[in-house]
Amino acid sequence: MRIATRHPVPAVEPVIEQAPAPVVPAPRPVSIVTFEQGCTAAECHGPMAGLPFVHETFRRGACAECHQPDTGGHVFPQITAAESACTSCHATGADHKFQHKAMSEEACLACHNPHSSRNAALLVGDTIQATCSRCHPPVRGMIAHEPYRAGRCTDCHDQHGADNPMLLLGGEGGENCRRCHAPVVTATEIGTHTHLGVDGGCLGCHDAHTAANEGLLLAPIGTLCLSCHEDVNSEVTGARVSHESVMTGAQCLTCHDPHTSERASMLRDPQAKLCLSCHGEDLAGADGRRIKGLAHELDGDRALHGAVSMGECSACHSVHGGQYEGLLRAIKPGVLLGDFDIRNYALCFSCHDQRLTGPADATRFRDGNRNLHAVHLKEEGRSGGCTDCHAVHSGSGPRMIVETLNYQGSDWGTPMNFELTSDGGSCAPACHEKLSYSRGFDLGETRNGGAP
Ligand code: HEC
Ligand code: HEC
Ligand code: HEC
Ligand code: HEC
Ligand code: HEC
Ligand code: HEC
Ligand code: HEC
Ligand code: HEC
Ligand code: HEC
Ligand code: HEC
Ligand code: HEC
Ligand code: HEC
Ligand code: HEC
Repeated sequence: MRIATRHPVPAVEPVIEQAPAPVVPAPRPVSIVTFEQGCTAAECHGPMAGLPFVHETFRRGACAECHQPDTGGHVFPQITAAESACTSCHATGADHKFQHKAMSEEACLACHNPHSSRNAALLVGDTIQATCSRCHPPVRGMIAHEPYRAGRCTDCHDQHGADNPMLLLGGEGGENCRRCHAPVVTATEIGTHTHLGVDGGCLGCHDAHTAANEGLLLAPIGTLCLSCHEDVNSEVTGARVSHESVMTGAQCLTCHDPHTSERASMLRDPQAKLCLSCHGEDLAGADGRRIKGLAHELDGDRALHGAVSMGECSACHSVHGGQYEGLLRAIKPGVLLGDFDIRNYALCFSCHDQRLTGPADATRFRDGNRNLHAVHLKEEGRSGGCTDCHAVHSGSGPRMIVETLNYQGSDWGTPMNFELTSDGGSCAPACHEKLSYSRGFDLGETRNGGAP
């Protein structure tokens, strides 16, 4: 609007735009108003059209599509009951297997404004979430799934009805997740070792909205995993000797992938690599003891024990916790020094033939017809341990014979001086003079008696 000035200035006349004066609403009409007279004048119902989104019918001024003529007192009743006010033009959701209860209870008007809205879908709330939260108050103060936090309810749910329970888009439960996490879902399907069979699929471990735990997990990681894996649970809780790494740090996830892996037991890496990530260097045991690093034993050019080269540390160690010292699956076959009892060697004899301590022809460690394993292991009151003479993970010399014979498992020891010959061998530890043995014939390198 141009403002007239008392002294016109011809050259540069300022032009001042002024907002239109606020419209004063007209009083409620007392006489009958017909549709032909119009309803959307500025001082009447015009402001209802002022919102960003206006229903097509309202924009056309087709009030009569929904309202009956004035029945007196400026009342324009609905043509049809609220439930069917919209379905004459919109067929929404009635043919779905599952219908949203909101639809049958308050009908369309539970969520939609029939005339106009700040939201594209004529929603009663300013946003989708604000609309839903009238009946489903949002959960706050927890770790939220990104689309839930962003209020994108209809990214996962069909607000009107769906053929899947919980009004889910995409499919039941976990199938819904595929819409955005296809790589994870596909990986569990093609992986050789997977968690695919978990009850509830993805929802067996995750909440789709919010959770108290990182990763939207239903429980803290250890508790979650142990809640289904009772056998491991009893290994962990019933352990006399526990393994710190199992219930600290990333817990189960240190070694296991939660979804899928090419390796048995869904391990993240081959066992030796997993274990060496901590046991490469020395570390302190729970009791302060030094636990020797194994990097040099496993990475070097030493000959690996067949059991280790198979890659299975768990063949001898109960990795989740166990009953025996050193997390061994059976009693440690080290310094024993009591009467001979075959059960003390159960660990080694779980793979090797226990006749090794019996007849002479069951071992190469013999002098003629004398089984020298038997001699050393069965001496009354002084039976030795396998690890007196053999290293367990790998050896630098033949037969994994130790370089140093340690005194009763201590760090103090004397050289073993073991030498192998074609039909026997010799050693000269502190226990005795250099002694030689001879089988009397050459067995060659082809066979390890008793080993599988
Ligand atoms: C698509 C159907 C439909 C059309 C078209 C429609 N209305 Fe309505 N109107 C309704 C419904 C349904 C209600 C009841 C709303 C409620 O109960 O919350 C309503 C209520 C009203 C109300 C009273 C409540 C309010 O929201 O203020 C007014 C005023 C109104 N309509 C005006 C109009 C005018 C004017 C037109 C035409 C320009 C129009 N309506 C066109 C469906 C319609
Ligand atoms: C007389 C027919 C008619 C009736 C009755 C009717 N609508 Fe509509 N509605 C339309 C038309 C036409 C459009 C515009 C369609 C388009 O743009 O594709 C529309 C669009 C819509 C939209 C989409 C708006 C958008 O921005 O995407 C919604 C939501 C909607 N109507 C809700 C309702 C509700 C709720 C009712 C009942 C209160 C209702 N309609 C009754 C004809 C009707
Ligand atoms: C529980 C709330 C809710 C109810 C009840 C509801 N709607 Fe909707 N409707 C929505 C939301 C939310 C959207 C927008 C979805 C989006 O944009 O992702 C929508 C979108 C629409 C649209 C436009 C997009 C489309 O899906 O075609 C129409 C038309 C519509 N609704 C009609 C209806 C009708 C008709 C009814 C009643 C029979 C109804 N709605 C009941 C929440 C509801
Ligand atoms: C007017 C109230 C109302 C509004 C608004 C509403 N709902 Fe509902 N919703 C219900 C009722 C009632 C149920 C049934 C609850 C029950 O059975 O325990 C329900 C159930 C659900 C369910 C579970 C379905 C099932 O099979 O149990 C989902 C998912 C849902 N609503 C999503 C939404 C979304 C998304 C929105 C917003 C677009 C929304 N609701 C808005 C009332 C509403
Ligand atoms: C990432 C997908 C996703 C998003 C986003 C999402 N939901 Fe859900 N919602 C689900 C799944 C999956 C279920 C089924 C959970 C189950 O079966 O345990 C569910 C269940 C529900 C239920 C019924 C069970 C319950 O918790 O009461 C309601 C109601 C619901 N959602 C409402 C909403 C609302 C409201 C929003 C937006 C604020 C929303 N949802 C956002 C996936 C989602
Ligand atoms: C509409 C898309 C969408 C759907 C459907 C969806 N998600 Fe998500 N999800 C996301 C987005 C976006 C993120 C955040 C990604 C990021 O931060 O990098 C996410 C993150 C996650 C995370 C990691 C959370 C964290 O804090 O580390 C988990 C777990 C997850 N989703 C599980 C699920 C499950 C289970 C389902 C099926 C019930 C599902 N999602 C369905 C979009 C979706
Ligand atoms: C056995 C429990 C379990 C099941 C079943 C499960 N997850 Fe997970 N998921 C986890 C754990 C544990 C994490 C790691 C959380 C962390 O690092 O904090 C995770 C992480 C995620 C992440 C975020 C990190 C990533 O890998 O991208 C997404 C997304 C995810 N899961 C989606 C899914 C989907 C989709 C399904 C169904 C196919 C599913 N999960 C099934 C336990 C599970
Ligand atoms: C909801 C129950 C459930 C939860 C929670 C669960 N699992 Fe499982 N898990 C199973 C089932 C069932 C199997 C059997 C394999 C299958 O069908 O997917 C399995 C298989 C496994 C396997 C493979 C065993 C084999 O034979 O190779 C490992 C390893 C495993 N789960 C570890 C975990 C870890 C780690 C967690 C925590 C992140 C966990 N599980 C959480 C149910 C569960
Ligand atoms: C230090 C690495 C490591 C950690 C930490 C670990 N595991 Fe394992 N887990 C393994 C190895 C190695 C195997 C293979 C054992 C075997 O072959 O007997 C295995 C096997 C399994 C199996 C399948 C075989 C069985 O014993 O039933 C399940 C289930 C399992 N682990 C669950 C768990 C759970 C639950 C946790 C956390 C509480 C966990 N693991 C922590 C290394 C680990
Ligand atoms: C995350 C680090 C970590 C990983 C990975 C790990 N450990 Fe351990 N391990 C420890 C710690 C710390 C100790 C000492 C504390 C204790 O006794 O629990 C230990 C103790 C042990 C012991 C007991 C030694 C003794 O003399 O008491 C054995 C045996 C063992 N681990 C074997 C393994 C095997 C086998 C693997 C692979 C399947 C493995 N560890 C993976 C951290 C780890
Ligand atoms: C053939 C059985 C066997 C296999 C296989 C085996 N170990 Fe051992 N491990 C033992 C025995 C026996 C001891 C005790 C040695 C001793 O006291 O001299 C031991 C001791 C240990 C110790 C403790 C060292 C210390 O100083 O206390 C760790 C750590 C260990 N093993 C890790 C591993 C890892 C990692 C693997 C797989 C790469 C593995 N073990 C494979 C039998 C085995
Ligand atoms: C998981 C099975 C397994 C266990 C348990 C096991 N071993 Fe072995 N061992 C083997 C395999 C496999 C070989 C290689 C056999 C071959 O080369 O023919 C082997 C070979 C040997 C050799 C011969 C090494 C060489 O250089 O010729 C000795 C010595 C030996 N083991 C000692 C032991 C001792 C001591 C124990 C107990 C601490 C033990 N083993 C436990 C599987 C095992
Ligand atoms: C006094 C030292 C000593 C003790 C103790 C000992 N070994 Fe041996 N072992 C040897 C020697 C030396 C050889 C090499 C024989 C040869 O090849 O000439 C050997 C060889 C082996 C072999 C290779 C196959 C064979 O019989 O020649 C295996 C397997 C073996 N020992 C396992 C064990 C087990 C298991 C124990 C404990 C039950 C044990 N050893 C205790 C010294 C010992």
